[in-house]
Amino acid sequence: MKISIAIDGPAAAGKSTVAKRIANILGYTYIDTGAMYRAFTWYCMEKGVNCEDEKACCALIPEVTIKLRPSGIVLCNDVDITRAIREPRINANVSYIASYKDIRLFLVEQQRNMASKHSVIMDGRDIGTYVLPNADVKIFQIASVETRAQRRYDENMEKGIPCTQEEIQADVRKRDYIDSHRDFAPLRCAEDAITLDTSDMSIEEVVNAIIDIINKKLEEKGKNA
Ligand code: DC
Repeated sequence: MKISIAIDGPAAAGKSTVAKRIANILGYTYIDTGAMYRAFTWYCMEKGVNCEDEKACCALIPEVTIKLRPSGIVLCNDVDITRAIREPRINANVSYIASYKDIRLFLVEQQRNMASKHSVIMDGRDIGTYVLPNADVKIFQIASVETRAQRRYDENMEKGIPCTQEEIQADVRKRDYIDSHRDFAPLRCAEDAITLDTSDMSIEEVVNAIIDIINKKLEEKGKNA
């Protein structure tokens, strides 16, 4: 029996960190849908296409193949872009790419296909509302802008990605605005999602809280984690 867990929420709320750990613990496949929008953004920039030009970006759809490896490696047309997609230039442009309906439909089809083959824990913005509306468990993970910016800053420092706190906070605010105001599948909490404010929680506390929620929900449904 395939299980699907949706984790949505604003930028840098720590979704991918906890989703990865939960996937390891429960033996599910982790799918980072944000990485797919980032990969598409990387390709547009590589081709010298302006990310604010919807028509030109969507015209690249037939050329793009994105692969997410279980190890976390992200490939675009077989180029390893795992590190490149976390650069500030990608952060600054990815919300434009993610607002284009044709690109979303192209990537959502692949996301649904992965969820039909494996038990998944998928993180993003529209997983509970649009990609997997029948997900077994839906979590909406939030945290204050200050906490999120600090977490992303710490993460970047650890990975050696140069940035300033001001830059990160401005980027997080801008992306939240664009992601929640786009016409098609905007960032929104699903009606049947459980909201978890993680501002004052450690990663372990968040992981444990979500695993508890998953176990309870699956028990109610007569499924096993
Ligand atoms: O989660 P992230 O920061 O890696 O996501 C990068 C961008 O992609 C983010 O600004 C919003 C967009 N995104 C989206 O629109 N829908 C998703 N399911 C995942 C990400």
